[in-house]
Amino acid sequence: MAKKHVVVLTGAGMSAESGVSTFRDSGGLWEQYRVEQVATPEGWHEDPKLVTDFYNGLRRQLLTKEPCEGHRLLAEMEQDCNVSIITQNVDDLHERAGSSRVLHLHGELFKVTSSMNPNDPRQIRTLKDDEWEVKIGDKAPDGSQLRPFIVWFGEAVPNIEPAAEICSQADVFLIIGTSLNVYPAAGLIQYVPQGCPIYLIDPKEVSIPACMPVTHIRKGASEGMREFLRTLQP
Ligand code: APR
Repeated sequence: MAKKHVVVLTGAGMSAESGVSTFRDSGGLWEQYRVEQVATPEGWHEDPKLVTDFYNGLRRQLLTKEPCEGHRLLAEMEQDCNVSIITQNVDDLHERAGSSRVLHLHGELFKVTSSMNPNDPRQIRTLKDDEWEVKIGDKAPDGSQLRPFIVWFGEAVPNIEPAAEICSQADVFLIIGTSLNVYPAAGLIQYVPQGCPIYLIDPKEVSIPACMPVTHIRKGASEGMREFLRTLQP
């Protein structure tokens, strides 16, 4: 029998049990920093040093974190299913847990790029663990200041089209730990084929278009994944 294609859309709640802050929960990152300052092109133009330091801090923090059980269960699911992960997270915890197909919608914390041509693949470089600290004056191959390879608010999301294509080929759609507040990522659910079972793992209520029948597993990512795997068994 052909393996089921399970498409998983993850957000910050996926990494919460690894100790990475979410954005919109109380105490989340956007309560501590102004989005406009650290996550927009305008913020970058105004104060590239502040933005550079902010992402240096996130990188340094990430080096101390480990994948949680939820990340590991998703990676193990590849033994029985074709799993495609589409993540809004910029951490590399899915990859470190062993997942092999991960599409990042909002960039990757351990990558840097040109501030002139951020989406030119020739400018994008992966930092080694000991290179987490980027400095003003560090240059991309095109000679411009290095910037984080992060999709900021107001910027295009180049991976949204491949992500929509993946969603349209789902046999099962699983959403974990995203408030679905940010578009275009939140709109991906519209590409899921009619009749495809949709599961949501999140301890809180998440608003999803009413016409979509969703099984809500009201638990954290790890416990929720255990329950999801039980439901998936034939
Ligand atoms: N397990 C599962 N879900 C959890 C857990 C947990 N342990 N803890 C919190 N959550 C849920 C919250 O209930 C919330 O629904 O995770 C969700 C986190 O939502 P947000 O903080 O809004 O994060 P996210 O949806 O990933 O944000 C999307 O917004 O700020 C931008 O670019 C940033 O990628 C990010 C995007």
